[in-house]
Amino acid sequence: MTAAELLEVLWRDYTAATPQAARIHQLLTQRGELLCNDHVALRSFAGDGLGMAALARPFEACGWRPRDRYELAASHLRARYWQHEDPALPKLFISELVVDQLSAAARAEVHRLLAQLPPGFAERADLAWSGRPWQLSYAAYERLYAESEYAGWVAAFGFRVNHFTVDLGSLSTFPDLVALDAFLVEHGFALDDRGGMIKGSPAERLEQSWTRADAIEVEFDDATVRIPSGSYEFARRYRLPSGELFHGFAPSGAEHVGDAGDAAAPGA
Ligand code: NI
Repeated sequence: MTAAELLEVLWRDYTAATPQAARIHQLLTQRGELLCNDHVALRSFAGDGLGMAALARPFEACGWRPRDRYELAASHLRARYWQHEDPALPKLFISELVVDQLSAAARAEVHRLLAQLPPGFAERADLAWSGRPWQLSYAAYERLYAESEYAGWVAAFGFRVNHFTVDLGSLSTFPDLVALDAFLVEHGFALDDRGGMIKGSPAERLEQSWTRADAIEVEFDDATVRIPSGSYEFARRYRLPSGELFHGFAPSGAEHVGDAGDAAAPGA
């Protein structure tokens, strides 16, 4: 699989769960923009061979190289990003939930999910877009979600892209995120404004905005329910004093964990 094919598979899977991303992509393209992505974000549970390293495998085979690691203690996450030598390709941001840091009840819920995995599941070449490999009830989802939005999301959606992020620097008709955000609102899209519409700052070398999460119907054991799926993200990067563009994810507040919400969680 080439890098382009890999990204195409991920985009199709992502927009199936987050259709607003395809609509916004089309809206910007119709305006004449040629979009590049800043990063693609994946999520996992740590342990059982399922964490960051397992999800990164197909990307490393296509030339992405691991870069900085982050610890996001408040949200019980570890994260790392990968970068490709082709600057036109997005960075890959993978996070994993440190399940051991959750309450005993939430740990037990997650272990009930992991116990359903068939042997060899973590070795699947298509792990990063394999979807949800376990059964769960809506009640179990709600309990997990109440403790950790991130845990609820992975439980409900399994292994798939959480978000794509447009690189503002690739756009020619928007000078900044303020202009892009205003355009999106004008076209009927809702942006997550908890903590302000723009997260991060020039001092952190990274500013980001993202839409409020889409909602899609998800089948649980006992019910089919519309729950928050994913948002579409927009990032503006700034230059370091050296003149080089900053490619990292500032440890405080740069990369959101979630979509459904919990943007408040610092990091991820
Ligand atoms: Ni992101």
